[in-house]
Amino acid sequence: MSQHGTHRIGILTCGGDCPGLNAVIRGVVKSATQLGFDCVGFLRGYEGLVDPVNYVPLNSKNTRGILTQGGTILGSTNKGRFAGKIGVDNKLAIETELLESVRTTVDQLALTGLVCIGGDGSLTVAQQFHEFGIPVVGVPKTIDNDLSATAYTFGFNSAVACATDALDRLHTTAASHGRVMVLEVMGRHAGWIALHAGIAGGGDVILIPEIPWTFENICQKILERDRTGRSFTLVVVAEGAELPEGGCVVHERREEMRQVRLGGIGHVVAQEIENRLQRETRCVVLGHLQRGGPPTTFDRVLATQFGAHAVRLIVEGKFGHMIRYQPPEFSSVPISEAIHQLSAVDPRGSTVLAAKALGISFGDCPAKESPFAAAGIPYSDSDAEMQEVVAV
Ligand code: F6P
Repeated sequence: MSQHGTHRIGILTCGGDCPGLNAVIRGVVKSATQLGFDCVGFLRGYEGLVDPVNYVPLNSKNTRGILTQGGTILGSTNKGRFAGKIGVDNKLAIETELLESVRTTVDQLALTGLVCIGGDGSLTVAQQFHEFGIPVVGVPKTIDNDLSATAYTFGFNSAVACATDALDRLHTTAASHGRVMVLEVMGRHAGWIALHAGIAGGGDVILIPEIPWTFENICQKILERDRTGRSFTLVVVAEGAELPEGGCVVHERREEMRQVRLGGIGHVVAQEIENRLQRETRCVVLGHLQRGGPPTTFDRVLATQFGAHAVRLIVEGKFGHMIRYQPPEFSSVPISEAIHQLSAVDPRGSTVLAAKALGISFGDCPAKESPFAAAGIPYSDSDAEMQEVVAV
């Protein structure tokens, strides 16, 4: 409680932005206000907490209308004094002096709790705050949807919608010209965006980090489509998909950056297809379009609920916890158990299996081979049922 007897909650957004951040901020402010809390928002992520401390009061007036807006009204960064300090056990090692400054800010503003909205790296910072006695709660965010502690992170659905829209557009131009179109989407460690958009947008080939693939198999799929009278092919590739010879395609590697900038695999795939098949091939790198623009309805609902539940965690004194969504319920998990637990696409999971049953190639087997055998799954009754469904 502040010296004026006011309860106050702090909010910040960190790491890469994504659609739905503003919906979380609004959710926190609206539900906190109902409970009699004041709110302040720190600017440019964790940087706003320390010299020069930079924050704005948040209330129903200045958060009005932000539900549908992309980005974050508080700004964000994945650089600065809190980024890139990986210490032992892959933990961020933040200097004690910096942590002391954060504590001073929290004390001076008499914050009851601080809501940190961020991805794995940002939540690792939040965990260190917690260990230092700073009252934090976490809200998971990443368009990649690769945090295993929560079934969904907001931003993912919006990114998939954007990638699907791109595929819909590429579909008509690919068909008109009889071309191969390669769409590169985000997804550093996990291929969730490529997988979901590939299915939703009628992709023919999906390449993801979790499934090794070969150019031979991609080309076979293209030729198989040719044989069956479909002269065009849509390939969706996740930026983090490894090349057959190993390694990812890196756009930029800089000392001061915590992680390399991925990008360019789409062009490599397109060029190789063109070389091998002498087929006109084009590549589109969707990039940050996936992170911009308004959140989908799903992400608005998810993000708003994350915001309201984050306030509940503070009221319940569950500091050091992160809100998570495990349909149909929202619950919480210690941040320490949520960080560094990435969720990857299961190559034998039902989504990949269904995609293979539809004839989508993951580049891991020749086009004609049984998708079930290729997945290493013994042919069973349920597989037979699935094939029947597909055959209908
Ligand atoms: O982690 C989310 C993400 O969008 C990745 O998919 C992508 O590799 C990365 O962020 C891009 O980061 P930046 O905006 O710093 O280029």
